[in-house]
Amino acid sequence: MPRRITKAVIPAAGFGTRMLPFTKAVPKELIPLVDKPVIQYVLEEAVDSGITDILLILSEGKEAVLNHFRPHPALEARLKESGKIELLKSITPFSSDVKISCVWQEELDGLGGAVKLAEEFVKDDFFAVLLGDTVLDSTCDIPVTRQLIEAHELTGNSVVAVEKMAVELLGSYGCIGGIPVAESVLLVNAMVEKPLPHEVPGEFAVASRYLLSPEIFALLKSTPRGKANEIQLTDAIKQLIPSNRLNARIISGHRHDLGSKAGFLAANIAFALRDPKLAGAINQKLAALSPEIAAKFVK
Ligand code: UTP
Repeated sequence: MPRRITKAVIPAAGFGTRMLPFTKAVPKELIPLVDKPVIQYVLEEAVDSGITDILLILSEGKEAVLNHFRPHPALEARLKESGKIELLKSITPFSSDVKISCVWQEELDGLGGAVKLAEEFVKDDFFAVLLGDTVLDSTCDIPVTRQLIEAHELTGNSVVAVEKMAVELLGSYGCIGGIPVAESVLLVNAMVEKPLPHEVPGEFAVASRYLLSPEIFALLKSTPRGKANEIQLTDAIKQLIPSNRLNARIISGHRHDLGSKAGFLAANIAFALRDPKLAGAINQKLAALSPEIAAKFVK
């Protein structure tokens, strides 16, 4: 039986150029999804999956991400005095069992470079990686990171989250091909980052969550810079394929990439429409903006 997974690494150091100019001074991981920064959803997913030890990867200018998870005694006291208990809970989401620390990525040399910085934190345990700008909205009662942990418990291998995607969209993602080995679990036999049409290895895109063996650090050290002159996490992970040590979990859930304009806007509309306090108003505003949209989509 593999050891319990308790550690997660959350890369949140990137420039976020797709969301400029907003991200010039504000970290994209603090972009709100309705009223909560995207990275809080990410940490909540990790904690709900059994993670107790979290390492944030940050870079200069992104101190506000760390501040978001620090205690704010004056605000907490004010909310308590005024009986705003739900708001108090929303700013103190984790119990004292959950430890949050950070390291600073000095050179922004890609996701692989960010994960590399977690070696000392991870030591010799398997660990989860959750991208700090992406919400994985589970469509069952198991958070997506927990789905990966369960696949790891079954196979003993590293696991990547994947979702089925239309072929014409695959070129923007890391893609895999594989053969089924259990329900919703594949043995990966090919992996390509942002494939050209003739390189597409299968119909699944990697979906921002990973469960990795600590051997990834040795692989990252020998991985040269790849696409965009960055150290690509995919290039290190795919070295596990020839020895059959990489699985994929077809997730039950939807990915919302808040680091892209369309992802940010669509996620906010989707989450607002399912919030009973907001749905009526949003429906009305959408209908007023576009009778065409109203007729098609808004109930
Ligand atoms: P992205 O691929 O979205 O890159 O990173 P980016 O630089 O942040 O954003 P764009 O493409 O310029 O708009 C996915 C996740 O990995 C982190 C990001 O902060 C984000 O949460 N990341 C990326 C790092 O931590 N370090 C890096 O060097 C690059």
